[in-house]
Amino acid sequence: MTLQLLVGAIVLLQCCFIPTLQHPLDPLTPSEFNQVRLIIQNSHLGTTLSNLTFHFVDLEEPEKSDVLNWLSSNKHNGSFPYRRAKVVVRARGETHELIVDLATGSITSDHVYTGHGFPPFTYNELLQASRLPKKHPEFKDSISKRRLNLSETMCLPFTVDWFGELVTKRVVRVLCYYRGGTTNIFARPIEGISILVDVESVQVIEYTDRFKAPLPSADGTDFRSSGKGPNSAPCNGTKIGFTIKGHEVKWANWAFHIAFNARAGLIISTASVFDAGRKKWRRMLYRGYVSETFVPYMDPTSEWYFRTFMDIDEFGFGRSADSLVPLIDCPGNAVYMDGYMAGADGQAQQVARAICIFERYSGDVAWRHTEIGVPGQVLTSGETEVSLVVRMVATVGNYDYILDWEFKQSGSIKVGVSLTGVLEMKATSYAHNGPETEGVYGTFVAHNTIATHHDHFLTYHLDLDIDGTNNSFVRSKLKTARAVGIKPSTPRKSYWTVVRETVESEAKARTRLGLEPVELSIVNPNKMTKLGNQVGYRLITGQRATSLLSDDDYPQIRAAYTKYQLWVTPYDRLERWAGGFYADRSHGDDGLAVWSKRNRSIVNKDIVLWYTVGFHHIPIQEDFPVMPTLYSGFELRPANFFERNPLIKQQCSIC
Ligand code: MN
Ligand code: CU
Repeated sequence: MTLQLLVGAIVLLQCCFIPTLQHPLDPLTPSEFNQVRLIIQNSHLGTTLSNLTFHFVDLEEPEKSDVLNWLSSNKHNGSFPYRRAKVVVRARGETHELIVDLATGSITSDHVYTGHGFPPFTYNELLQASRLPKKHPEFKDSISKRRLNLSETMCLPFTVDWFGELVTKRVVRVLCYYRGGTTNIFARPIEGISILVDVESVQVIEYTDRFKAPLPSADGTDFRSSGKGPNSAPCNGTKIGFTIKGHEVKWANWAFHIAFNARAGLIISTASVFDAGRKKWRRMLYRGYVSETFVPYMDPTSEWYFRTFMDIDEFGFGRSADSLVPLIDCPGNAVYMDGYMAGADGQAQQVARAICIFERYSGDVAWRHTEIGVPGQVLTSGETEVSLVVRMVATVGNYDYILDWEFKQSGSIKVGVSLTGVLEMKATSYAHNGPETEGVYGTFVAHNTIATHHDHFLTYHLDLDIDGTNNSFVRSKLKTARAVGIKPSTPRKSYWTVVRETVESEAKARTRLGLEPVELSIVNPNKMTKLGNQVGYRLITGQRATSLLSDDDYPQIRAAYTKYQLWVTPYDRLERWAGGFYADRSHGDDGLAVWSKRNRSIVNKDIVLWYTVGFHHIPIQEDFPVMPTLYSGFELRPANFFERNPLIKQQCSIC
């Protein structure tokens, strides 16, 4: 929710390792970030160098047809024809959207953005804002009135959302916490004080100290582990092994590409699965990543109402990425990949060990069967599950998100989201729960401490390309049928049957999962199995959660896309971020819900799925002082994609 300002994971690059470009979706290299910076500094924008800040520097998404052509034909014959960066800088109070051509070293497009919403805050802006209170006389007064020690206070920046007001300034609200003998600052909020900071002039523009609540005790808040070192579980599965060339990974029957950027963090691209029956690689996923995250808190009072974060834009999962710690974050057999991004000054920064890749020996059964039908024998066959996991961890202030892409030999991809970390807590004058504490907007987790109700919605951009780009979205409903007219007559009264519908338009594709059983799949209507079924992948959804805020509530206007769990849109290179590109203080006039209003056709087209992993979080006492990991996710599972179970390697007559 707030950028973790204490983590020293980001290393400024003095010297650069330059990986060779092997794939057009390779993230920008450190030298490319630095090249972009020089090109812009040497341009007309560079004359105002002192206030030129870099808010977004990423690979400009290449034309998909160019990427696919290159991958299928030219891959080994030469470099991709172009390499461009998309850059958002602020200069003279204006937001410039630039396209920088890295081959010619020139700016090919410079557009001043004047719409609603602001670009992401830079790390420096957030850091400067969080340091302001300690120099502010009114804050010093407030702290001494509370008989607290100024040096033990710690302030953090919170984004403020939009509530219908005229927005003229880029601001954050700074809220403060007290260390005083604990590392768990979120357990000790200094309640009642709220400080609005203009991040461009770096000034406090509004200060309120509305009331005094007791500071929650530091007792029992510390979450540091008890000194036992992490241990590595012995691996007893069958080792398969994988290769990494540049950003491309090959493992078992999978080949895919890994990228990293400041906004989404981990991005999986051009995933193909090998079909042993057809003896060829088959395309499955073009791009997959977390497109936006919406975390609204359910306390509407003055100090809390604005806590309705859109983390991907406002803070960035890449910018909040942790350097993974071996044997805590990833097992002993993991291989690590660094991530790179641009700092506020445009310089390349490294996140060491931003991503880990490892084989998982879960001890689960990949498939099995015991056959007792053979006279005199009990036959058991099966295999243990061995999969490949690609992982990153983002700590966005108090919360830690563990994001997994798990590739299975069955052709499935399981996408996991785990939540852990520390809850956002509020101090209250009530010591504990009781009849008088109704309406405290959360759960008592410690004396005088309430953990506030909230949600987490992580919306994935999933550009599936099943055996090619032209795909359709199919919704198969299970309907109860009456057993009438069956000859010869049956004693059964009912059975269920499948009503299969190819969904025609964006409007019809919006899905809010209910109690009605339904199977959701993406098919290639132009490709059949030998048995005449359309080849496809099924989306196995996780728990049902959509936003419960009313449609006219301002946070909901910004995050309108969270009203449905699934959207399908035709592919558009520019439609990448579900909450819009400028989500900070936006008015909800860009993003998935707006694009989808055009109600375009999605039949036999290149289509993109947008699936939201949602959590309604009613905190519990066990979430304190630090929360045990809570898991959710979804699975993309082949459905009539292969002729048979791909785990069974022996020959068969129809393969
Ligand atoms: Mn597609
Ligand atoms: Cu939560």
